[in-house]
Amino acid sequence: MKNKTAFICQNCGFHSPKWLGRCPSCGEWSTLIEEIEEEIIAEYSFAPSKPILYEEIKEAKKKRVKTGIEELNRVLGGGIVPGSLVLIGGEPGIGKSTLLLQVSRDFASRAEKVLYVSGEESLEQIKLRGERLGLKGEKLYLLAETNLERIISQAEKLNPQIFVLDSVQSVYSSKLSSTPGTISQVREVTNQVFRFAKKNGVCSFLIGHITKEGSLAGPKSLEHIVDVVLYFEGERDHSYRVLRALKNRFGPISELAIFEMGSRGLQAISNPSAFFLKERPTDETGSVVVCTFRGSRPLLAEIQALVSSTLFTGNPRRMTVGLDHFRAAMLLAIIEKKLGFSFAGEDIYLNVAGGLAIDEPATDLGVVMAVVSCLKNKAIPPDVSVFGEVGLSGEIRSVGQPLARLKEASSLGFKTVILPKGNLSHLERENIPGINLMGVKNVKEALTIIF
Ligand code: TYD
Ligand code: MG
Repeated sequence: MKNKTAFICQNCGFHSPKWLGRCPSCGEWSTLIEEIEEEIIAEYSFAPSKPILYEEIKEAKKKRVKTGIEELNRVLGGGIVPGSLVLIGGEPGIGKSTLLLQVSRDFASRAEKVLYVSGEESLEQIKLRGERLGLKGEKLYLLAETNLERIISQAEKLNPQIFVLDSVQSVYSSKLSSTPGTISQVREVTNQVFRFAKKNGVCSFLIGHITKEGSLAGPKSLEHIVDVVLYFEGERDHSYRVLRALKNRFGPISELAIFEMGSRGLQAISNPSAFFLKERPTDETGSVVVCTFRGSRPLLAEIQALVSSTLFTGNPRRMTVGLDHFRAAMLLAIIEKKLGFSFAGEDIYLNVAGGLAIDEPATDLGVVMAVVSCLKNKAIPPDVSVFGEVGLSGEIRSVGQPLARLKEASSLGFKTVILPKGNLSHLERENIPGINLMGVKNVKEALTIIF
């Protein structure tokens, strides 16, 4: 083994022979740390390494193991595939350990053998948390250990069905001399856990801390090693947490699950639309509910707009929270050009209530309506919901899955939905009781209906 050193970017893994202030690969500042470059020979031989005919490979349909949390199963694509490695990333304190301890509890209560390894907390601390979560499972094994080789050897002895390592930054491999949490350590740890999972067919979870900027010995650099990457995010001052799939070798991404952190752990929110609309003000200007989509599920969200005159003579501000900035700028230009409003001297703020982020063109009409409602100082009736993509000439284009959007709106008591005319023609045969459908061809039509 050579004892050559190199400077490695802790954010993206870039190698440099000399120290640099800024990583030329990812552009982050002060992320290069000197590490001993050790060569580890990868041993990826799970199957005989000779070419096999495609037809001779047995059917690849894998049985999935269901976790006790239905929302998590959906994000995973229907459950965990045995032998796969799932990385759960998120900021410290967001609830990763809590989530996985709850998952472990559910498995253990179904008499499955679970090994939960913590390199961060003592057994007493975990027990304290477990008591809050109402943990009893007799087959839940805990191990407080930071040496990876000892962890793997214990895991092979115990042979659990579920393996959890909390966290990838806190354990170290004795094959390397660098400190825990450096990029070569977290990679080596991930590689070894990956091999362990594949060899023994164990469903494995790995926890990784990331900061808002995604740095801190980034699990970002681990994304290509593991099978599934989930991100757990949320605001500190909000009790809800969003779990998203960023990569999934066995299922769809863009699925999303919403949890609420309470005094007894995380609780899945099975009706997110109602959750995000619960505090909506009625008859306020600049607020409208859109039927959008997250993953395979329709979601109702409130879009808010605020127009106020620009102070002093600076540039008017255009701020968006939860919406794409460029798309919003385009919609504002359409409002000026096609609807004849002028807001050169006004600041415009756009927000998706509840800290949600939505990036679907079907919300365009909602943004337009919210801004116009504000400009006209007229509220949109609270039982109206909208969806539709807006084109540059102000035309409203049809969007996917209109029926699912309408059903969601209907189930939450909306009485009128304004939607693209193009979608309406396909819906004629469908019957959604108690909802009044208004097809529109352009933004002008939509406004005459409402105002
Ligand atoms: P934790 O799972 O330790 O976060 P992570 O592993 O991502 O660092 O979550 C810790 C936070 O969750 C902490 O602020 C306390 C809070 N919490 C609750 O509000 N209710 C609970 O039942 C538990 C167990 C934790
Ligand atoms: Mg933790």
